Amino acid sequence: MFDTTELAASINIRPCHSSLLISAFSSSSSSSSSSSSSMAAFSERTLVLSCLALLACVAVDGQLSPAFYNSTCPNLQSIVRTAMTRAVSKERRMGASILRLFFHDCFVNGCDASILLDDTSTFVGEKNAGPNANSVRGYDVIDAIKSNVEKTCNATVSCADILALAARDGVVLLGGPTWTVQLGRRDATTASQSAANSNLPGPGSSLAQLISAFSAKGLSARDMTALSGAHTVGQARCISFRSRVYSDANVNATFASLRRQSCPASGGDGNLAALDAQTAAAFDNKYYQNLVAKQGLLHSDQELFNNGSQDSLVRQYGSNASAFSGDFAAAMVKMGSISPLTGSRGQIRLNCRKVN
Ligand code: HEM
Repeated sequence: MFDTTELAASINIRPCHSSLLISAFSSSSSSSSSSSSSMAAFSERTLVLSCLALLACVAVDGQLSPAFYNSTCPNLQSIVRTAMTRAVSKERRMGASILRLFFHDCFVNGCDASILLDDTSTFVGEKNAGPNANSVRGYDVIDAIKSNVEKTCNATVSCADILALAARDGVVLLGGPTWTVQLGRRDATTASQSAANSNLPGPGSSLAQLISAFSAKGLSARDMTALSGAHTVGQARCISFRSRVYSDANVNATFASLRRQSCPASGGDGNLAALDAQTAAAFDNKYYQNLVAKQGLLHSDQELFNNGSQDSLVRQYGSNASAFSGDFAAAMVKMGSISPLTGSRGQIRLNCRKVN
């Protein structure tokens, strides 16, 4: 007798598919006790079916699926939604912060929750990389969701998938579009500060640099322009937009002078301003209208509308909210599929901050 669950695990089969295999194998082994020819034929057919099931399972390995936890953690989505609702009603900005946390995870060696790992004696993590230090927030919210999920579905759901669901919920709670989240990512066992420093685009980036940073992750210029619409929510520190409001030429003068009031030429690096001055806490298409009015807060934002290849798309998103919503949702699914760890790669961390 062999253990079919172990067999399924050893060949990298995901939970939702292993049940198919197990039933195929168990009917095969029960029929093998019969000596009749019809039973022998049945047994042979079952074996063929088992092999086909095996092939099918191996073929889907490496792909994500919205149904991944349907049988192993059916309440997952409502657990995440409840916690995100609580977090966003406590502080609306948290919806934005979790969205950015997901972006900064996916762009550094894939959506594998590597950003959530604290530094250890064996590696320097991503939390203190330049683009993340004193800036990325929401780690405690992910910890709280993870501990709720563990209570119901122990050692089953990855931190990477929790982050993907929480980011979608944050957008929805701020009034933005929804999408179906692909699931089945596993968690990294290491993190890379140097990859975080080199893969995440900075606020001084040119259009060419933005396009190339996204292209390196398999995302088009159109995806990049749609995803940048995330800057319709949340805040930036003075240090991120100082040179924009003191030195850029393509900035609305009234807007720049208003922003200079709370962002001195020196000092006050941490002073905050809304990325979207019109509706800071609502996920809408005002970000693009700001760009057309030369009121992008970051230099990199205004690069999308500065007589370049993305100008017409920016105008289109600014005047057609549903065109933006549709493209944003599709691009989020694409971004969420960057190099996931699947099958037996990585692990299901029990605590998002450390490797098991
Ligand atoms: C296109 C290249 C991008 C650049 C150069 C960029 C840069 C930045 C910078 C500099 C900040 C302010 C950080 C601070 O001062 O503390 C920021 C905030 C933010 N970014 Fe981006 N970002 C980009 C793309 C994205 C994408 C693709 C998303 C999500 C899909 C995103 C979501 C956000 C959000 C929501 C905030 C506000 C976070 C908060 O309030 O906590 N950004 N970004």
